[in-house]
Amino acid sequence: MTDPHSFSMPGEARVTHLQWKADVDFKTHVIQATATWEIKRTGDADVIILDTKGLNIHKVTLDNNKPAEFRLGQLDSLLGRALAILIHPNTRAIKIEYETTPNAEALQWLEPSQTAGKTQPFLFTQSQAILARSWIPCQDSPGVRFTYEADVTVPPDLLALMSASNPQEINKDGTYHFEMKQPISSYLLALSVGDLRFKPISARSGVYAEAGILDTAAWEFADLEKMIAGAEELYGRYAWERYDVLVLPPSFPFGGMENPRLTFATPTILAGDRSLTSVIAHELAHSWSGNLVTNATWNDFWLNEGFTVYFEHRIMEKLYGRDHAEMLATLALQDLQENIATLTASGNAPDTRLRLNLEGRSPDDGVTDIAYFKGYFFLRSIEEKYGREKFDGFLRDYFSNNAFKAMDTETFIKTIKAFYKSKFSISLDEATLNAWIFEQGLPAVHPQPSSEKFAVVDNLIASWKANPEKKIFTPHNDWSTQEWLHFLKNLPGKLSFQELEALDKFGKFTASGNAEIVTEWLVIAIRNNYSPAYPRMEQFLVNTGRRKFLSPLYNELLKTPEGAKRAAQIYKQARPNYHFVATNTFDQLIHQ
Ligand code: BES
Ligand code: ZN
Repeated sequence: MTDPHSFSMPGEARVTHLQWKADVDFKTHVIQATATWEIKRTGDADVIILDTKGLNIHKVTLDNNKPAEFRLGQLDSLLGRALAILIHPNTRAIKIEYETTPNAEALQWLEPSQTAGKTQPFLFTQSQAILARSWIPCQDSPGVRFTYEADVTVPPDLLALMSASNPQEINKDGTYHFEMKQPISSYLLALSVGDLRFKPISARSGVYAEAGILDTAAWEFADLEKMIAGAEELYGRYAWERYDVLVLPPSFPFGGMENPRLTFATPTILAGDRSLTSVIAHELAHSWSGNLVTNATWNDFWLNEGFTVYFEHRIMEKLYGRDHAEMLATLALQDLQENIATLTASGNAPDTRLRLNLEGRSPDDGVTDIAYFKGYFFLRSIEEKYGREKFDGFLRDYFSNNAFKAMDTETFIKTIKAFYKSKFSISLDEATLNAWIFEQGLPAVHPQPSSEKFAVVDNLIASWKANPEKKIFTPHNDWSTQEWLHFLKNLPGKLSFQELEALDKFGKFTASGNAEIVTEWLVIAIRNNYSPAYPRMEQFLVNTGRRKFLSPLYNELLKTPEGAKRAAQIYKQARPNYHFVATNTFDQLIHQ
């Protein structure tokens, strides 16, 4: 399978190990580095190709510092530039001396004011999907795996962390050594530098955060060890030794990122009541689905995310019970159905298939609810049709047989069919598999999650709708985040000012510190022009960089001319706080 998002030709010559030496300069926003790659050449290849984007290449040498001939290809605005290096039959290593540019797409350099502590700067990377090439010249294709070691120098008093073995304390001289002994793909390369502290949760897990939020984070993630143990019971041994979580400043563009051994997480999951920890279950699950068995190309992204959502829900069910997992699944089904409707209405119906064709497009276009939730419901449909025990047997076998390998959609289909046939003499129905994977939309026959707690919420909404006064609410102090979300998602689209006021009094939504609830509420507020919520909306948009929250809010604003004006004003103020993956999405949308 060839990867349309990489110039590299790993079939000819591929990298196997990286030795990275780097100096992180917060004054110039530049990383000065040397990447020494051990390589493996097949056949008679006389060139090795790496991906780069915005790197200044100073010098390339082979093995014992012999100067190498190299050439940088034409700039492609999406893919960057190919770096072609001439090699000999006996070349074992290539060494690239280079520096990053201040606008490197993977890197976000934060001023002290953008951190919790307000005194030290901060840096973090986000390499998935094809941004690793903007800070390390690499074969930036998920099908290529390598081990790595690194020596990183940062300003004294700051801690450096990578997707590797990590220090637990600041080293006064600012030098750190890292090792990643298990082979990983380039999109899992990660680095973060900041005034960070560590707090253990169990012998093999803990949390890194700025001092001011360390205890809060450790409290929120108290169940980390139970999650790891539960995951291992479900689908086999954890392969990466330690599992730590790094809580980043609020501009981190995702909920979480499954960097091996060190999940990067948004502070917006620190809800104060442990109600948003399914994000951690999700990133932990990627330690199997994604980091062990890896999507071969971004066209197969659903193999990473769909499996991970399935695994995440199984962890949540194991720890917190069936009804909790069913609440998550119900929310997912509603989001999926709305997302399919939106994609279809905007002429993007082909993107509602699990197997994508993103050639010539950004892999980011594949980051929709389809990969996550259609993928999840597809796997759940197999579980439900033939039984959980059989499906769990398949998953255990799948993770262990394909560990540290790439998987594409076609191979997955062959593998699951062969397993059910040989183990249980079951022939999986071809038409059904094809409908889920290669056809648009959601198959008419699909799993139907059902939660008792949500049934109570549904009844409340129904009686509220039937009540002409629309005033009477009984207090629901015991509702979880998920019940509030379900409530908000199922209110009528049009609401009067009085109704919104009464609702806000009932749920205290505008004042809520829970980012999930606030986002859902603010979408309703924008749609119905409920101005008392606008200051909160502006403050939220300027201070949060998580794209999942920004998208619905900006999209709702953009539906009216006045809203679009407001969006442009807020965006201008907020943009310096956003990572490239967010500005790249919104620059095209919002007319500044
Ligand atoms: N690997 C993804 C984040 C990602 C996807 C980054 C594609 C870049 C390109 C991560 O595991 C993820 O899915 N995060 C979700 C968490 C949620 C589904 C629990 C997020 O950020 O919202
Ligand atoms: Zn994920």
